[in-house]
Amino acid sequence: MKRIAVLTSGGDAPGMNAAIRAVVRSAIYNQVEVFGIMQGYEGLIQGCIKSMNLGSVADIIHRGGTILQTSRSSSFMSEAGRRAALEQLNKHGITGLVVLGGNGSLRGAWEFSKLGIKVVGIPASIDNDIVYTRSIGFDTAVNTALQAINHIRDTATSHGRVFVIEVMGRDCGEIALAAGVAGGAESILIPEIEVDFEQIVNKINQGVERGKLHSIIVVAEGVYPVLELKEHLQEATGQDIRVTILGHIQRGGTPTAVDRIMGSCMGKAAVDYLISGKGNAMTATRLGGVHLIPLQEVIRGKKTPELGMFDLARVLSI
Ligand code: F6P
Repeated sequence: MKRIAVLTSGGDAPGMNAAIRAVVRSAIYNQVEVFGIMQGYEGLIQGCIKSMNLGSVADIIHRGGTILQTSRSSSFMSEAGRRAALEQLNKHGITGLVVLGGNGSLRGAWEFSKLGIKVVGIPASIDNDIVYTRSIGFDTAVNTALQAINHIRDTATSHGRVFVIEVMGRDCGEIALAAGVAGGAESILIPEIEVDFEQIVNKINQGVERGKLHSIIVVAEGVYPVLELKEHLQEATGQDIRVTILGHIQRGGTPTAVDRIMGSCMGKAAVDYLISGKGNAMTATRLGGVHLIPLQEVIRGKKTPELGMFDLARVLSI
C-alpha cells in the first residue's frame, strides 16, 4: 500500500477532523502517500483529489465540521458512478480508501469495495445509529443538546412552563435518550418506543401537583410533529407550553475530548489496517452497559492507562 486517500461523506460530525488528521499523519509516519478527497463520493467522481502533508492537517483537531467538506451523493449509488470514482483513484495510483460517515456512506463503501478497492470505514455520525460501535460526533452532539436543555430549564423554571425540545437523530433515539437522561427530562419520545400520550400528560399533571416548576419533554425528530404535540398537550393539561427545535446546531461546534480521541484512535487504526494489506472493514469501539465487578477483583486490580494512547500521541505529534 503506497498511496491511500481519505474522504468524509453524509452529514458532518464533530471529530471528523481529528480522524482526518490521524489518517494523514499515520500514513506519513509509515511513508505512505496520502490524498484528501473533497466533498465526499461526489468529489471523488469529479476528481477533486489533493495531496496532503503534515501541514494540511495542522490546527484542525479542535474544529467542528470537516476540512474535506462533505456531500450526500446520489451518483455514487449507481455502479456507473462508482466505476467513474474508481477511475479517478486509479489515475492517482491510490489503492486504499478511508471513508468517514454514517450508515449510507458505509453502505457505499461496501459497494465500492466490490470493485476491488480496499476500503476501511470509520463510523462518524451524530446519530450514533451504526451497529457494533459508538460513532464519532455523538458525544459532542449530546453535549450540545444538553447545554441547550440546561439553558431552557432556566427559563422554563422562571416561567413555570413546559418545554418540548426536538433533537436530531434521523430514525434513531440515541441523542434524545442520552440528552434526555442527562438533562433530567420528564419524558423522552424516541422512534423505537410507541408514544404514550396519556403517560406524558399524567407526568405533567403530577409535576404540577407536586409543585414542580417546569417539565422538559425531549422528542427525537420524526417521532411526532412537535407543534402538534404542543397543541395536544396544551389542550390536555392547560399548561403554558413552548417548543424549541435544536436542529443543525447539534452538528457543529468544538468536538469533545471523547470525539477527538475516538477520531484519533480510529484514524490510525484504519491506516494500520490498510497498510497490513487488509480492507473492507469498519473501525469499531464497543462501549456500553453497566457491569458488576466483584469488590475482591476491584481491590486487587490496578488500573493502568491505555498505553496504546501514548503511542498514538507519539505518532500523531510528528
Ligand atoms: O445524520 C445526521 C443528521 O443530522 C440527522 O440527524 C438528520 O436527520 C439529518 O442528518 C439532516 O440532514 P441534512 O443536513 O441533509 O438536512
